[in-house]
Amino acid sequence: MRTQIGIVGAGPAGLVLAHLLHRRGIDSVVLERQSREHVERRIRAGVLEQGTVDLLTTVGLADRLLRERMVHHGLEMLFDGVGHRIPLTELTGRELTIYGQHELVKDLVAVRLETGRPLLFGAPAVACSGLDSSAPVVHFEYGGESRTLECDLIAGCDGFHGVCRPAVPPFVLTEYQRDYPYAWLGILSEAPPSSDELIYAQHEHGFALHSMRTPKITRLYLQVAPDEDLTAWPDERVWAELRTRLARHDPAWQLADGPVLDKGITALRSVVTEPMQFGRLFLAGDSAHIVPATGAKGLNLAVADVAVLAAAIEAWYRTGSTELLDAYSRTCLARVWRVQHFSWWMTSMLHKAPDGDPFTARLQRAALRQLTGSEAAARAFAESYVGPPLTGGPDDTP
Ligand code: FAD
Ligand code: PHB
Repeated sequence: MRTQIGIVGAGPAGLVLAHLLHRRGIDSVVLERQSREHVERRIRAGVLEQGTVDLLTTVGLADRLLRERMVHHGLEMLFDGVGHRIPLTELTGRELTIYGQHELVKDLVAVRLETGRPLLFGAPAVACSGLDSSAPVVHFEYGGESRTLECDLIAGCDGFHGVCRPAVPPFVLTEYQRDYPYAWLGILSEAPPSSDELIYAQHEHGFALHSMRTPKITRLYLQVAPDEDLTAWPDERVWAELRTRLARHDPAWQLADGPVLDKGITALRSVVTEPMQFGRLFLAGDSAHIVPATGAKGLNLAVADVAVLAAAIEAWYRTGSTELLDAYSRTCLARVWRVQHFSWWMTSMLHKAPDGDPFTARLQRAALRQLTGSEAAARAFAESYVGPPLTGGPDDTP
């Protein structure tokens, strides 16, 4: 097979990139290891920044999203049994969208298939070669056979456990990493949200988060140990712990519960790979960086990367200049580190230290009081939470 851009991975990064390129008349082949059903069912992110939604809207990917999403204008920080609202829209003029990542992936897959251009499921890439030549190749398997995809450029959109990043010679890349001594146990429940907005709770038992997907579906998280055994958490224990950590002095507030539709444990980590390019391979999204979920940024960063990449690829085909491609990594990393700092800061402020260190707990309380008691502090937080505007091509930036 031959194409212009070989895209490895049909997550948000790969599928949005394929569409941005298609709109610019640039052909691509998308290879996805999993089945269509699998990627459309995988429960993950749910918070989209306005910049992400604006881009998706401009390029015609947001029809269902705009009909079905929930729009949020604030969130709540809960500590010492009292909730403190941060009015995000009042402070920044921007809003948040709640829409499940798997719903977005369904929309992106449908739009791609409508174009008739190739999106192969059950097609794992196994290696990349010729990355420092002008004829890179993705080696993949499909229908029980070994195949090759020859292209001008490869976009490594294959997530944190993909094959693209490891295909780069080890001396080229530097990985900056921080592991956290806690993880998140997340459930998706058929229960109506107990609040109109997200609740981030700091509690002496550990962090908890109340989020949602629709007016009938709640998404909830609990801080647990990184090596926690999921079988030690039957539904009743999860609900009891959520009720404890989300409790407030106001006796009228109650956490609604319901059947658990999905349950899993996710590690929290920060990783940045520098640079995000080697020769004709460009890494985008989780394949290049991971942020702890506390800031709700991973999906948004993936979309921000491919907006930059699509504009750079177009300029290269149009003018022959590699200027924007050469700047790709630098452009993306500026945003990545800004978001990385915010996500680390928010994670550090809200999670209980595993040793229960009282000094850390008092610092966290001081940070939360400052955040909820000072308009200047709340504004700085709100700007980061709603996200900086995206950088992209003229037709993708409203
Ligand atoms: P992925 O979505 O991981 O997609 C990569 C794709 O590549 C996958 O489909 C994979 O199957 C495929 N692939 C891998 N290897 C190969 C191969 N060898 N060949 C072919 N295909 C391959 N982010 C937010 O912004 N907001 C949130 O609220 C949020 N909450 C989260 C909650 C949880 C529980 C988790 C786990 C993540 C959350 N994130 C959140 C992060 C967000 O889900 C990711 O950052 C996002 O999925 C990144 O998109 P991506 O396309 O880069 O990678
Ligand atoms: C989610 O709804 O899955 C979610 C919300 C906020 C976060 C992380 C995840 O910070």
